[in-house]
Amino acid sequence: MTTPQTSPPKYLQEDSLSEECKELLSTLPKEKGWIGSYIYKYQGFWTSPRLIQGVIACQQQFQAQDTDIILVTTPKSGTTWLKSLLFALVNRTKHSVFEQNHPLLVKNPHILVPFLEHTLYVDGRVPDFSSFASPRLLATHVPFASLPKSIQDSETKLVYLCRNPRDTFISMWHFSNNLRLDHKDTNSIEEMFDLFCKGVSIYGPFWDHVLDYWKQSVENPNKVLFLMYEEMKENQKIQLKRLAEFLKCQFSIEEEKCGVVDEILKMCSFENLSNLEVNTNEKLSTGEGNKTFFRKGEIGDWKNYFTVEMSEKLNRITEEKFHGSGLKFLYT
Ligand code: A3P
Repeated sequence: MTTPQTSPPKYLQEDSLSEECKELLSTLPKEKGWIGSYIYKYQGFWTSPRLIQGVIACQQQFQAQDTDIILVTTPKSGTTWLKSLLFALVNRTKHSVFEQNHPLLVKNPHILVPFLEHTLYVDGRVPDFSSFASPRLLATHVPFASLPKSIQDSETKLVYLCRNPRDTFISMWHFSNNLRLDHKDTNSIEEMFDLFCKGVSIYGPFWDHVLDYWKQSVENPNKVLFLMYEEMKENQKIQLKRLAEFLKCQFSIEEEKCGVVDEILKMCSFENLSNLEVNTNEKLSTGEGNKTFFRKGEIGDWKNYFTVEMSEKLNRITEEKFHGSGLKFLYT
């Protein structure tokens, strides 16, 4: 585990909330937070106070454009990786992946594909989209039902990514321990596991998030592409081409011959991104060290932490929640 940073990301701090937000919070169910003191249940999902403000501002103000591409993920499912792939893919004419000074080599993917509620609309900010090239690449963790209406009503494409709940949980547990408000000690794995199983995790319940986007992808496959971290890891080329097809920016035969697909995958690999100067030594404006987004980048680290009971419990919950949906996770 990496050393804890000195303060938590700004969006997880609980000071300077608006009076309106404080009033709203007093009416919402709350539970122990993984990082800050509490998380609250807003519109059926759990999140931190500052993010509730960001979500509301985004719902009220964000105007989607038909050409927008929005990456939606469950936290700790590989968002940073998919942001980098998306950026490299969509901008490959403007920024050749063979360029020595490609933006991904000098900027963290979270800067190049910003979050709506965590970054652009946090703390009452009014984002200036004038510098965004088309198509705009944006990201969110918000469940489908709570997306700004303009996203749901427009032709905006949604690329969704999730990961099996065992690895998601382990990654989230490590991440939250690194960012904890008091960081005097770590959260016990048992306590956090119980909260996760109860659905109390950031943007959880985890299963509802995944299932809602799965259903949307089945009903409207031109609008929502559903991806899994495990499939991405195991079949990188196929999944990248699938993404390109969905976004209608397929690779040409010429590009394939020149090795563009392989070069994108190489540039966005865990090994490459995690060793870049920008991702080892710099921080985001929200306060997290860029290195906290790169830990192991593997499938199956849960095996080093889970008891048989934990696996069985998650299996039971997953089977119950996904019953009849046709959705299954891959674990190894
Ligand atoms: P682990 O904690 O299991 O290592 P997110 O970006 O949604 O916060 O997800 C973080 C997880 O994605 C971490 O998983 C991290 O190591 C992994 N990750 C980051 N960059 C990656 C990459 N380029 N390829 C594969 N996995 C990556």
